[in-house]
Amino acid sequence: MAAGEGTSAQALSAPYNVAFTGGHVLQLMRADPLSFLAADLDSLKQQGLYRHLRILKGEQKARGTFDHRQVVNLSSNNYLGLTTHPRLRDAALEATRTLGVGSGSVRTIAGTMDVHMELERRLASFKRTEAVVVFQSGFAANAGAVAAVLSKDDFVISDELNHASIIDGSRLSRATIKVFPHKDVDAARAVLRGLPAGPRKLVITDGVFSMDGDVGALPELCALAEEFGAIMMVDDAHASGVFGKNGRGTIDHFGMHGRVDIQVGTLSKAIGVLGGYVGGSRTLIEFLYHRARPFLFSTSHPPAVAAACIAAIDVLEQEPQIIEQLWANTTLFKSGLHALGFNTGVSQSPITPVIVGDGALAMKLSDRLFEEGVFAQGIAYPTVARDKARVRTIVTATHSREELQFALDVFAKVGRELSIIH
Ligand SMILES: Cc1ncc(COP(=O)(O)O)c(C=O)c1O
Repeated sequence: MAAGEGTSAQALSAPYNVAFTGGHVLQLMRADPLSFLAADLDSLKQQGLYRHLRILKGEQKARGTFDHRQVVNLSSNNYLGLTTHPRLRDAALEATRTLGVGSGSVRTIAGTMDVHMELERRLASFKRTEAVVVFQSGFAANAGAVAAVLSKDDFVISDELNHASIIDGSRLSRATIKVFPHKDVDAARAVLRGLPAGPRKLVITDGVFSMDGDVGALPELCALAEEFGAIMMVDDAHASGVFGKNGRGTIDHFGMHGRVDIQVGTLSKAIGVLGGYVGGSRTLIEFLYHRARPFLFSTSHPPAVAAACIAAIDVLEQEPQIIEQLWANTTLFKSGLHALGFNTGVSQSPITPVIVGDGALAMKLSDRLFEEGVFAQGIAYPTVARDKARVRTIVTATHSREELQFALDVFAKVGRELSIIH
């Protein structure tokens, strides 16, 4: 249409609905090209799987007010209660006062501050790796590292329950993805045997699996990677701050320092703040400084985030009794659920699923627990297999015995009411 020409129905092409009244255009409405999304949401509602976001008023703690209800919170990843630890809070406030609220740039241009470098040095020495690069999140660390290291002629050999960020990074790399059944090392070996010798191969597992709470087959997979000359990568998001000496993770837990080429951790869970990191050789880290796209193309953390993470490492090193308390609470709660007769799967960590099978039943269980004062998130397909829906519980070091006993009593009452236990 030429400039200045009047709008006519003819000049408007297909997706516009135009209504005329008495020669005047009354409405000019574009048919919504996203209308199919509403159909998807309706289908979730019909299946009882539609969720609204629960809103927390106040701090992220062991007990809190979500959706105006006081509940015992079994849904956060705040394993050590560090989200509100005074040392982290003070460090963040001090960094904000002295360094401002933002970094103002990506790391590779003007956004690398002293405090970012200090955090990377502290993490490298804590994790016992040559070097570390920090990303904006654990998701960015996994996806950024895998996509940078591999390219289209390469292969990823990946546990079927690995985190979404590993899957997305693998897809971005355009390497061929070979998925092996959960922790099935023989199947992984068969995959590796069938691959050509030339291309690069990356064997990858979570250290702790986020939905089942079990520990990855690290020693066996590591030996396999060594046998086939593959790169070994572990995503220790749920193990950092939880497993190993002072919370150094599953690699420390299994005594495998120096044998895992790429270690990922998160700063968003036990560390209580936000971010992710990759640890490994100096060469790997320098390569990621140059090639990992979230590092290159997204702004670095505010100084308060980096400073709070440094304070969290101080806490891990100087207050290991918090980690001991986490494990004591884990044992108490896990054995309580088990004694009640719930199916808690194969968990070996503070993540304990209560598996009920049907998605709608899991959501019902979660809703009823919430009404009775316990927040345990329902999780269904596609996050877990269709017949493995569950509510997931995560205890923290800061739950009191009374809070955990209260939660067990509520689980008993609601579990019987819904005929999940008898
Ligand atoms: C196993 C695993 N890896 C990585 C991540 C991502 O970490 P972040 O929340 O820091 O992005 C998560 C968090 O959901 C996770 O469970």
